[in-house]
Amino acid sequence: MSLLAIKYHRGHLEILNQLLLPHESVYEEISCVEDGWQAIRSMKVRGAPAIAIVGALSLVVELLQQSFSSAEELLKFITEKLDYLTTARPTAVNISETAKDLVSFVTYLSSVKSDPQDIKIKVIEEIEGMLAKDVSDNQSVGRHGADHMVQLTSSEKLKVLTHCNTGSLATAGYGTALGVIRKLYEQERIEHVFCTETRPYNQGSRLTAYELVYENIPSTLVADSMVSLLMKTKGVHVVVVGADRVVANGDTANKIGTYQIAISAKYHMVPFYVAAPSTSIDLSLESGEHISIEERPAHELTTLGDVRIAAHGIGCWNPGFDITPAELITGGIITEYGVFKPHELKQALMERI
Ligand code: MRU
Repeated sequence: MSLLAIKYHRGHLEILNQLLLPHESVYEEISCVEDGWQAIRSMKVRGAPAIAIVGALSLVVELLQQSFSSAEELLKFITEKLDYLTTARPTAVNISETAKDLVSFVTYLSSVKSDPQDIKIKVIEEIEGMLAKDVSDNQSVGRHGADHMVQLTSSEKLKVLTHCNTGSLATAGYGTALGVIRKLYEQERIEHVFCTETRPYNQGSRLTAYELVYENIPSTLVADSMVSLLMKTKGVHVVVVGADRVVANGDTANKIGTYQIAISAKYHMVPFYVAAPSTSIDLSLESGEHISIEERPAHELTTLGDVRIAAHGIGCWNPGFDITPAELITGGIITEYGVFKPHELKQALMERI
């Protein structure tokens, strides 16, 4: 078993093929941007931070195979490759923010340096730095989230519900919402974790369950349709989920099914938290209605593995994400800088940028 979604040393990138989990741990080499795009599109690698990091590292491995005669040529190459990578999956903001930041970085470098080789190395170092930064941001998210939950609930040990996979497999390591759960467990504050199976792609039963079992965290799998009854009968103290994009007013795009869990949490008065590093926050959009929601292919809904489970001829609607309105995020938005109420988020982040 492995919990490392991304293996990298300079010029060599491998990803754990998450389509094969939990049955097999198979690493596949990514040797160019096209490989990176395909791995992201097919969801061999998934989770907002992991998508951005693998996309950017796929550019690194390709850059290392190329030489450039001018800074302009390098800038054009990088811009085109990043534009292409951002088309693989539209909802998670991390990859497009990374692309924007990298293009600005190269544009700036081109204005102060003329040797394309120098600029190339600086860009490579910048991208390589994303791996360690993501892990340390996630650890801060975990710390802030755990402290906040313990204070808010004043319970010795917590029963926590989570949705989708937000752990090591969705990031460079440690995880966001699952990082908060990891931190609570390290502090001996976990009574029990419930994870939803997360239909139709089953990130919960295949990936989160795999991570929880791997870490020996006491945990139980539930179907998505059991969440309301679970809250009513099992005394869930908090819900924590990740995010693909949190916008300026706090509305949050996350895995399909998050919205209905947030509605149920409000009804049952269970604090609902979103855990998201600042790389998943998009202050350029005012509200969730502007977020583009990816539609996934019908076969992800009609088949389990290779087995057809839906009646032939039925139509399918398969949005990959939904938007949870800020007013349902009652616990707060947990970032590497601290925990904020949705209406505080924009100001709090702008002060730190
Ligand atoms: O379609 P996926 O598996 O990429 O969706 C993943 C999620 O929705 C996660 O909750 C989100 O990306 C946060 S991962 C730290």
